[in-house]
Amino acid sequence: MNDRVFRASEASRLDSPERRIWLPPDEVIERLALTPGMVVADIGAGTGYFTLPMARQVAPGGEVYAVDLQTEMLAILDGKLAEEELDNILLMQGEASRTGLRNTSCDLILLANIWHELDDHAAVLAECRRVLRPAGRIAILDWRPSKTPQPGPPNEHRIPAEEVTKLLTASGWSGVMAFSVGAYSYLVMACAGSANTPST
Ligand SMILES: C[S@@+](CC[C@H](N)C(=O)[O-])C[C@H]1O[C@@H](n2cnc3c(N)ncnc32)[C@H](O)[C@@H]1O
Repeated sequence: MNDRVFRASEASRLDSPERRIWLPPDEVIERLALTPGMVVADIGAGTGYFTLPMARQVAPGGEVYAVDLQTEMLAILDGKLAEEELDNILLMQGEASRTGLRNTSCDLILLANIWHELDDHAAVLAECRRVLRPAGRIAILDWRPSKTPQPGPPNEHRIPAEEVTKLLTASGWSGVMAFSVGAYSYLVMACAGSANTPST
């Protein structure tokens, strides 16, 4: 685990009330255009900040795979599930470049606040392409660079949306679109196939 990975010992920060103000989950979820029955993977799910609202959106009939490197994060999410009336979240300990998810099994993959923590973006994109259905979409949410103090990783760890967009386009993803979300973040979306444009 590299030193950019957000440690489970800090997990309570992911669920702070302030975070819901500067990164409203609903604003992101709306952009994802989820519908009942969809199968979603939340890679780097952490404590489930996006997993839980996504699971509500894809019910009934859909499910969310919550994948994370750290079992401690998944244990916190598991604890939340006991209090929720949701039975469509599956927890998986795994590495973003080797998730263990089946081929062509997902309609959407969310990578939220993990892009700057990854060592091998090309390997993760290849894994996402393997797991997504032909019309499947990827959504990469991460931190906009900033020179002024704010929550989140140091500026030198942040990867601009333009760089993500460039890599997706060069790797053959289509309909690549970038949006600002919340106070400090961006969301880049793209399609695995060539003929589709992401919904907004
Ligand atoms: C900053 S947290 C974000 C959690 C959640 N997506 C959110 O926005 O609240 C990043 C998460 O990604 C996980 N992570 C980092 N590198 C990973 C990798 N290579 N494979 C799987 N998970 C990883 C970390 O364990 C951590 O739980």
